[in-house]
Amino acid sequence: MVDVHCHILPGLDDGPDTMEESLAMAETAIAEGITHVVATPHANNKFWFDFAHVCQLREQLLAQLGDRLKVATGCDFHLSPENLSSLRKDSRAYCINQRDYLLLEFNEISIPPSMDQTLHEIQLAGLRPIITHPERNAILLAHPERLRDWVRRGCFAQVTGGALTGVFGLVAQQNALEWIRDGIIHFVASDAHNNRNRPLRLQGAYDVVEGQFGEEKARALFLENPLAAFEGRDLPHVPEVEEEAPSPKRKRFLFF
Ligand SMILES: [Fe+2]
Repeated sequence: MVDVHCHILPGLDDGPDTMEESLAMAETAIAEGITHVVATPHANNKFWFDFAHVCQLREQLLAQLGDRLKVATGCDFHLSPENLSSLRKDSRAYCINQRDYLLLEFNEISIPPSMDQTLHEIQLAGLRPIITHPERNAILLAHPERLRDWVRRGCFAQVTGGALTGVFGLVAQQNALEWIRDGIIHFVASDAHNNRNRPLRLQGAYDVVEGQFGEEKARALFLENPLAAFEGRDLPHVPEVEEEAPSPKRKRFLFF
């Protein structure tokens, strides 16, 4: 499996504090059958993103791991005006493996209508946006038509493995599964933060997807699409998305 979203580098954000913890997370990933990870530290108003420092830490981690795990860098990129201005200056620093896929995290309080235009501009700049964990965003849970519309316009979407196994509650789990069924999701990633309650594991989520949708879908979401993003290729699995949801959605109540 290939994990395009995790917080494995130490001392950068709310991920591990020490290199020892990072190494323990890497060992968990290797034991889980994960071959590639993308270290994606936050860039938001709480955590400053320094690309040179991120690269240094990656080198230190690899020096101890050798070739047992491929580790690239990216960013859990929060869409704010400040971040967008630095994205314009050096977009590759933020992209997965310095290619062209970019993880985008949305505000949970408001997503202005101008976001449609912002996403379009990011695409015009040659980048391929991946919307992260929509199943944990209250606005997108309440307005799934926005996510559907962005995906129809060429954005991609990633759910968190833990959401599929129920770690983030029933609403996140049900929505993540429905969106996979509807072809709106292109990646499952760990979004791991530590080895305690947010470990670098994907096998449980893989089993859920394989059990409900079959092996081909599981390989698409956990291996073939993530590997293509890692290498900067077109995704091999991008389902056609209907304009409207194929079945009436049940009224959702948000319990977190
Ligand atoms: Fe994250």
